[in-house]
Amino acid sequence: MRLVRLSLFLSVTILISTGAAWASEGRVNKSAPGLIWSTGKEEGDLYRKPQSEEHEALNENDELDGGFSSLDGMLQWAIGHSDPAKLKETAKSVQRLSDDELTKRQIEIQELMERLKMPSDAELMRTAINDLNNSSISLEDRLHALEKLLVLVEPIDNANDLDKLGGLAAIITQLDNVEPVARKLAAWVLGKACQNNPVVQKRVLEFGTLPKLMKMVTSDFVEEAIKAFFAVSALIRNNLRGQEKFYAQGGDLMLKDILKNSTFDIRLRRKCIFLIGDLAQSHIESANKAELPFFSDNLFLKAIVDLTSSEDLDLQEKTLAAIKNLLQLRTTKASIFKDFCALDKALEKMRLQLQQLMEEEDQRDYARDVEILRREVEMIFYQKIEKGGSQVPT
Ligand SMILES: *[C@@H]1O[C@H](CO)[C@@H](O)[C@H](O)[C@H]1NC(C)=O
Ligand SMILES: *[C@@H]1O[C@H](CO)[C@@H](O)[C@H](O)[C@H]1NC(C)=O
Ligand SMILES: *[C@@H]1O[C@H](CO)[C@@H](O)[C@H](O)[C@H]1NC(C)=O
Ligand SMILES: *[C@@H]1O[C@H](CO)[C@@H](O)[C@H](O)[C@H]1NC(C)=O
Repeated sequence: MRLVRLSLFLSVTILISTGAAWASEGRVNKSAPGLIWSTGKEEGDLYRKPQSEEHEALNENDELDGGFSSLDGMLQWAIGHSDPAKLKETAKSVQRLSDDELTKRQIEIQELMERLKMPSDAELMRTAINDLNNSSISLEDRLHALEKLLVLVEPIDNANDLDKLGGLAAIITQLDNVEPVARKLAAWVLGKACQNNPVVQKRVLEFGTLPKLMKMVTSDFVEEAIKAFFAVSALIRNNLRGQEKFYAQGGDLMLKDILKNSTFDIRLRRKCIFLIGDLAQSHIESANKAELPFFSDNLFLKAIVDLTSSEDLDLQEKTLAAIKNLLQLRTTKASIFKDFCALDKALEKMRLQLQQLMEEEDQRDYARDVEILRREVEMIFYQKIEKGGSQVPT
């Protein structure tokens, strides 16, 4: 037990001696009942001596209640209350440990941390939501709360709890923050929470958030635009209700604007073409849905085919994937792809370019994958031409 406590102390000094950059919690001397750091007397007596058994402190965790919302906070506090000279001295002795010894210490520390039972995710979320909802909090703390939520909403159970805790409302309010960074983070958190999660998608749609997010896509602050686009995609992906709202809100026009305008950030354009492919896929799968003129707009299709000559290979690949889906829609015509969009020429040009790329060592594997996709598109295209020819004899 003493060894473990020693390790924790050492970990603190390792963090200092290696200058590890852990974020300042800014809450160094928040009240922390029960935690006593006495570097002077012993190697590191982290805990007040418990009344009964020493391990009770570890199991019951009452010593950590109310003090710290995170491990960082605890370490910060501990260092804030340590004697700098003593820390330095110990740091030196740590440097003398071999790598193996250090690794062993780190494992011990991890085990200790697990037994300490850190605050539950729900508690951490509650704290962050509370901070978001607090109008007198500083911008820094607000951003910090959003950053925490960004991580916390990743597990689907946490994302599902978010609404019950009042989190969705609090995050959505931040979409109106005057600070672009706060808006960006809020959109990002929403996107993450919605991703592959029909429950959260439904709730966020009910909040009526989609139009706001779509408006944010046109922000001059490019990071905000990108995260907003991410959130829009996450919200309507595999969600027919969401897609209906998206189209009703002029989502197709938004996508066209982004596609046609090469001054938009490349990341946004990649996301855009990816979403188009995704929406086309949705359309293929739901055969009964009313036909969308969007997908058979000739200029739009041409703008997409033209993207295959982009210098960005990633964009090219995503474009191919989208074309593959668009070709499979009943509403698109092979003759338009051929005569109006010159897809045959575009595919041939791409073939030559990929061939060249495959001669470059570092590009070979990727180019080969894209070439496989390109051939697939070519095959579907020529099949569609044949089918079109037999159905509509001219
Ligand atoms: C908090 O810490 C700062 C710097 O460590 C110190 O100056 C200040 O007196 C402390 N405040 C309280 C209330 O302990
Ligand atoms: C709101 O934030 C302020 C400043 O950080 C703090 O003093 C106050 O206790 C907070 N209120 C609530 C309800 O958490
Ligand atoms: C946020 O504050 C509002 C009132 O300002 C309150 O109605 C709401 O319940 C609060 N939400 C949370 C999660 O604390
Ligand atoms: C293209 O987008 C930029 C903003 O990224 C905008 O200023 C410009 O007017 C757009 N051009 C066209 C032709 O829509």
